[in-house]
Amino acid sequence: MLEISNLTVRYGGITAMSDLSLTVPRGETVILVGANGAGKSSLINAIIGMVPVAKGSIKLDGVELTKIAPYNRAGCGIGYSPEGRRVFPTMTVRDNVLAGASRLGRAKQNQVYEKLSTLFPMLATRANDAAGILSGGQQQMVAIARALSSSPKLLLLDEPFLGLAPVWIQQISDAIRHFREEGITVLMTEQMAVPALKVATYGYVIRNGHILRGGTVDELRGAALAEEYL
Ligand SMILES: Nc1ncnc2c1ncn2[C@@H]1O[C@H](COP(=O)(O)OP(=O)(O)O)[C@@H](O)[C@H]1O
Ligand SMILES: [Mg+2]
Repeated sequence: MLEISNLTVRYGGITAMSDLSLTVPRGETVILVGANGAGKSSLINAIIGMVPVAKGSIKLDGVELTKIAPYNRAGCGIGYSPEGRRVFPTMTVRDNVLAGASRLGRAKQNQVYEKLSTLFPMLATRANDAAGILSGGQQQMVAIARALSSSPKLLLLDEPFLGLAPVWIQQISDAIRHFREEGITVLMTEQMAVPALKVATYGYVIRNGHILRGGTVDELRGAALAEEYL
């Protein structure tokens, strides 16, 4: 479904990743594990067009994304939850979530919000609160719900567990496992290999912009844990 081949990303003279290739099969949850600075966000940002691609190809269902302008890529069915969550703090929870569904009419938006509230019940109870007063875990749920509100076929989660207490990691893990049951394809990044390996099916270990290993989560466990403790 998502096929990245020989991807090279540069920031000025710095090469953040070179000749990186990976595949995300339809319906799977794929984890990219790597330490801080490994190139995880660069990869995610290249997919959504936030960083330019120096070389290589990114194909979603056969469509070459690098040829599509970044502002048109949302229409390609990609949902994105950024590292650090980046919710709009003064906007309500509901408005944050529906920011991803601004093209829909009011009735459809209500339906979408109701469906997302069955996934994350706090969306119903905190709908009219400013997102900025929520805990980190709740803000992460808002960011994920915002990414899902456009009903994407591919969901990108950049470090969804970053800085969260175990109780929130558990709840977000349950949601990610539920996405697979719903047939949503997920590519997520994490530094924390232990919880990440529990939600994914396949994975890759990334270091210095290179893939060290790829495989099923069982095949990866040793290499992924070693990377976490680098
Ligand atoms: N905007 C930028 N300008 C220059 N260098 C950057 C920029 N963003 C990231 N980098 C560099 O690219 C490398 C990969 O960073 P990043 O993709 O953010 O890694 P990760 O998400 O795995 O922590 C790092 O060496 C980082 O310093
Ligand atoms: Mg990052």
